[in-house]
Amino acid sequence: MSKQFYITTAIDYVNGTPHLGHAYEKVLADVIARTRRSLGDQVFFLTGLDEHGQKVKQAAQAQGLEPQAYCDELAVSWQSLTTRLNLSNNDFVRTSSARHREVVQAILNRLHATGHFYRAEYRGYYSTRQETFLTEKDRRPDGTFDPFYGEVIELVEENYYFRLREHQAWLIDYIESHPDFIEPDYRRNEVLGFLKHNTLEDLCSTRPATRLNWGIPVPFDPAFVTYVWFDALSNYVTIPAALGDPALTAALDQPAHPAGPALWPADVQILGKDILKFHAVYWPIMLKAIGLPLPRKILAHGWWQKDGQRMSKSTGNVVDPIAVIDEWGADAFRYYVVRELDIGPDGNWTDAGFRSRYSAELANGLGNLVNRSLSMLQRYRNGIVPARSQELASEISTAARTAIDQLREYRLQPALLTTWSIVNRANQYVDQTTPFKLAKDPAQTAKLDAVLYNLAECCRILAVLLWPYIPNSAERIYAQLGLAAQPDSFDAAAWGGLEPGHQIAGPQVLFPRKDSPTP
Ligand code: ME8
Ligand code: MG
Repeated sequence: MSKQFYITTAIDYVNGTPHLGHAYEKVLADVIARTRRSLGDQVFFLTGLDEHGQKVKQAAQAQGLEPQAYCDELAVSWQSLTTRLNLSNNDFVRTSSARHREVVQAILNRLHATGHFYRAEYRGYYSTRQETFLTEKDRRPDGTFDPFYGEVIELVEENYYFRLREHQAWLIDYIESHPDFIEPDYRRNEVLGFLKHNTLEDLCSTRPATRLNWGIPVPFDPAFVTYVWFDALSNYVTIPAALGDPALTAALDQPAHPAGPALWPADVQILGKDILKFHAVYWPIMLKAIGLPLPRKILAHGWWQKDGQRMSKSTGNVVDPIAVIDEWGADAFRYYVVRELDIGPDGNWTDAGFRSRYSAELANGLGNLVNRSLSMLQRYRNGIVPARSQELASEISTAARTAIDQLREYRLQPALLTTWSIVNRANQYVDQTTPFKLAKDPAQTAKLDAVLYNLAECCRILAVLLWPYIPNSAERIYAQLGLAAQPDSFDAAAWGGLEPGHQIAGPQVLFPRKDSPTP
């Protein structure tokens, strides 16, 4: 079986409810997954939950629940977010599941057998909130640790360490010789700077079960559980291995499946800038040590703030994606986050900014274009597509090609802007050609036919180009055009797809106008 296009997201900590940042990342991944389907690839899109570790254990305790019961309860709302966002993910990993645990244990056994671990005593500082060890270097000038780390405790304990130092040189070489491996390039430079100016500390990959029992037991020493990051990063291969990816089952001595999908290496792994080091340093080293190829691309997105402030549950300064979707629909949410924030820099959510783009770009831009184009076709031609016209063919085809090329390069926001140039051009074309005047003059019948064809064809091509971003609206545009197919292939972006004589179904409002709220 040929390799599928494999895309992953970070897996979210289950200690709370999803916010804008989590939803944003999943939308980016979904736009890419749908893009690749439209390009004709077979795609496997994986997302899910990170359920082990101290944070989750503490959150469960705070509610008087066993960690598994707590995770099971919260997983319902996280999984329902994938549905509400209209994600096309093919699977959903939960790290407390047996299929994940078994492969993590196989990885640990293999790394242990090949000498990548050693046991040693550690004495030092530990941040429970960030699940990470700290050193004197992490102290601020006044001797304290950044509040980001939460409570910092002193620990003396034995653990298994993963040897990292021997990997530093090849990793630097690899990143330097593969400029597309980490994007954007300023993030790549950060990783390189870190690797060149620091000696990698060996990674403490276990926790004593006496201190933390909510984790995957270490198969060769049950007095320990697996460090949550080691466990979590593994998800990108454990699920493909559990499904029977032949390269992985062979490398990890797992049972072979006759029809296992070929997934690894991932084509793109998307995650936030705060966890880039885990993905661009530890993860490649883990893979190399296991004997597996590295992912083709690590794409790091920026962080959202709300009203210029860090989002925080405690201050109530959060954007709840479900509330936005309830009020405005999934497509409005999906559109806004991709349109507002390019992959890389940080962004800022304001309700006013959201409303303004909804109204100007979705309701008055795309929605109005489709509505008036199909209404006029209905009114002046009984909804029957007139003879083909090439009037806008070359400029729209050029824009479509550019947008598809940009999408291929994961440039989602630039591609959306390019696609929107078609919305704007078509709306301008209505204003320039004034079909409502042409309709009053029998001598202009052919001209009106041409205008109506061009407008309907623009709507159709827009549905094809926008399907990765706003699948539901794109499918509705196709349905209003009376097309039975789905707009899920870029082959259909070629000009002239609408057949003369075809009967459309007629317009329906895509993005209802909303009254401004009373202050
Ligand atoms: O880090 N804006 O989980 P997490 C944009 N379990 N993205 C944001 C964000 C914001 N304000 N807040 C969080 C973890 N994210 C680990 C990952 S992967 C093997 C394990 C992003 O729930 C964040 O950058 O804290 C990360 O990519 C994802 O949400 C999950 O964050
Ligand atoms: Mg986090």
